[in-house]
Amino acid sequence: MTATGRARWRTWLPLRLPAHRASSATLAGAYPFLTTAPLDRGVYVGVDAFTGSPFCFDPWTLYGQGLLTNPNVLLVGVIGQGKSALAKSLAVRSIAAGRRVYVPGDPKGEWTAVAEAVGGQVISLGPGLATRLNPLDVPGAGQIQLLATLAETTLGRGLRAAEHTALDVALTAAARNTSGSVTISDVVTALSDPHPDAAADDATTAGERLQDGRELAHGLRRMVKGDLAGLFDGPSTVALDAGAPIVVLDLSRLGTQDDALAIAMTCASAWLEAALVAGAGQRWVIYDEAWRLLHLLPLIRRMQAQWKLSRAYGIANILVLHRLSDLDAAGAHGSQVRTIAEGLLADCSTRVIYRQESDQLTAIAGALGLTGTERDLLTALPKGTGLWKVADCAHVVHHRLHPDEASVFDTDTAMRGQTPAGVEP
Ligand SMILES: Nc1ncnc2c1ncn2[C@@H]1O[C@H](COP(=O)(O)OP(=O)(O)OP(=O)(O)O)[C@@H](O)[C@H]1O
Ligand SMILES: [Mg+2]
Repeated sequence: MTATGRARWRTWLPLRLPAHRASSATLAGAYPFLTTAPLDRGVYVGVDAFTGSPFCFDPWTLYGQGLLTNPNVLLVGVIGQGKSALAKSLAVRSIAAGRRVYVPGDPKGEWTAVAEAVGGQVISLGPGLATRLNPLDVPGAGQIQLLATLAETTLGRGLRAAEHTALDVALTAAARNTSGSVTISDVVTALSDPHPDAAADDATTAGERLQDGRELAHGLRRMVKGDLAGLFDGPSTVALDAGAPIVVLDLSRLGTQDDALAIAMTCASAWLEAALVAGAGQRWVIYDEAWRLLHLLPLIRRMQAQWKLSRAYGIANILVLHRLSDLDAAGAHGSQVRTIAEGLLADCSTRVIYRQESDQLTAIAGALGLTGTERDLLTALPKGTGLWKVADCAHVVHHRLHPDEASVFDTDTAMRGQTPAGVEP
């Protein structure tokens, strides 16, 4: 039978064309929708799983080129996939390139070895340790803001206007009565003993002022005589080393109490702010385990304020979460804490997504604008491999660890029943 119409042009012979080979750079031009341009500037991260070429990252360069709207990075992935290892590699490799790193709170104590390996500063806080930080070391108006944040955290609510005034007056009185730097203990004493003249200036009585400051005094007392005594209630015993390549605040001895962590991080963030403003140059601020902090309104309000300063001071933040639904734990939709937390996430132009559980796919794909293929990939990503969404391009990258890094970054030692280097068995 003879074919008619369009079928006449059909041939059943196999198509014999020689295979065409070209470099990934050439193919990127020929198939721009399949292959994105390589990222080859900045610190080495690992290999691009599709092209095999090296993958490098430098948010400051990309920001300078107008490809990123901010230098911040969101890093999400289920436990044990290598999020911290990636953050640590970015940190130490950036230090080699002359940058500095701050880790304002390390609840697991896993950054200490990293800081020690590169000659950084580790400040360990915890009951029984000699280190004390005076959060009121911050200059000027920072003191009252910080006190208000600490009082809000210990009371678990916002302050009333009369309480704010009582705190302000107590701080002024405490500063007048002390020759050295004012401490939280001085403020608690002043709250409990308001001066009648200062009260009269505000058209109130010492009795009313005492009443206004009662709950504040109880809240702050926790840091003087309660479970947090000895950490923040005296002059600082250490100074932030502005020249250190990395500064880590090790909070692993504080235990699992979230509000102790919040208070320590609030104090640390005040310290850090002074260092960030005083220092110059490009710096990373890494919030490993950020999912533990998102529900703490006073703290994330401070983080939000700090992030606003970030660009002006050359700072890139890294926020590490397990999944986007960590936000649900932050607060209900529309609540202030939730809105600020979502704002912090939205302020991360670079998103690195490690393996996700299948129940998370719809939410993460919607929130981060992933294609169907990218979405399907997320449940299959092996350890150390992530989907990088940088400047509207997607890359699947396997993070390469140097053996020296691997031995310092190892967090699986306990799982394997071995003792990490430097720890007494
Ligand atoms: N790219 C990699 N190549 C080889 N090993 C890796 C890689 N990334 C991480 N690891 C190893 O996997 C283990 C877990 O990594 P890591 O602690 O970074 O995971 P994580 O995602 O931060 O986990 P968690 O959510 O519990 O904090 C570590 O011992 C680390 O050395
Ligand atoms: Mg980790």
